[in-house]
Amino acid sequence: MEMAARPIGVFDSGVGGLSILEEIHSQLPDENVIYLADQEWAPYGSKSLDDVRARSVAVSAELIGRGAKLIVVACNSASAAALHHLREVFPETPFVGMEPALKPAAAHTDKGVIGVLATETTFQGELYASVLDRHTDGVEVIEVAGKRLAMLVEEGRLDEAKVDLEVLLRPMLDAGIDALVLGCTHYPFLADQIRDVAGPDLRLVD
Ligand code: DGL
Repeated sequence: MEMAARPIGVFDSGVGGLSILEEIHSQLPDENVIYLADQEWAPYGSKSLDDVRARSVAVSAELIGRGAKLIVVACNSASAAALHHLREVFPETPFVGMEPALKPAAAHTDKGVIGVLATETTFQGELYASVLDRHTDGVEVIEVAGKRLAMLVEEGRLDEAKVDLEVLLRPMLDAGIDALVLGCTHYPFLADQIRDVAGPDLRLVD
């Protein structure tokens, strides 16, 4: 009897990581993947770093228990809270995480002003501070927490999200950003709503 190949484990608080899953399928079509959408505990982005870290350990243990050979933390908030810790707790398992794409946004801005939309948890983590420090020299960065955007995406309430975006993006648009980092894996699902609010010229970087 042939042994099934060990899967790659992927987790997020919900649907956000599905865009990452798609990318894994397209780049590694022969890999088995288990995707864990932790909707029971969502949203991650408004919880404390300690709580998200503990939950990420529990979810990773579940995936490892199901045979995962590598884990993709397909969530910026969980990566911010837990990536280093997960590598320490599970030294046998490689972990791949997300970081907000400030580097490409800062490299391509013409105006020298970029926006970052991410969760409160992501902004609080050391990972974000380190990305900011390493990649945005000489660039003005306007940060806005997405508040309930991830939950609105999770629940498919995209029209309501557009109303929120009109308020959330205003300070960035007034500051003249020409690139917006989507620092939460749920936000690419709002690309149309963001373009409706911000116009077609704003560069979205995820
Ligand atoms: N998708 C997650 C992220 O990338 C968080 C969404 C949530 O708040 O649960 O940050």
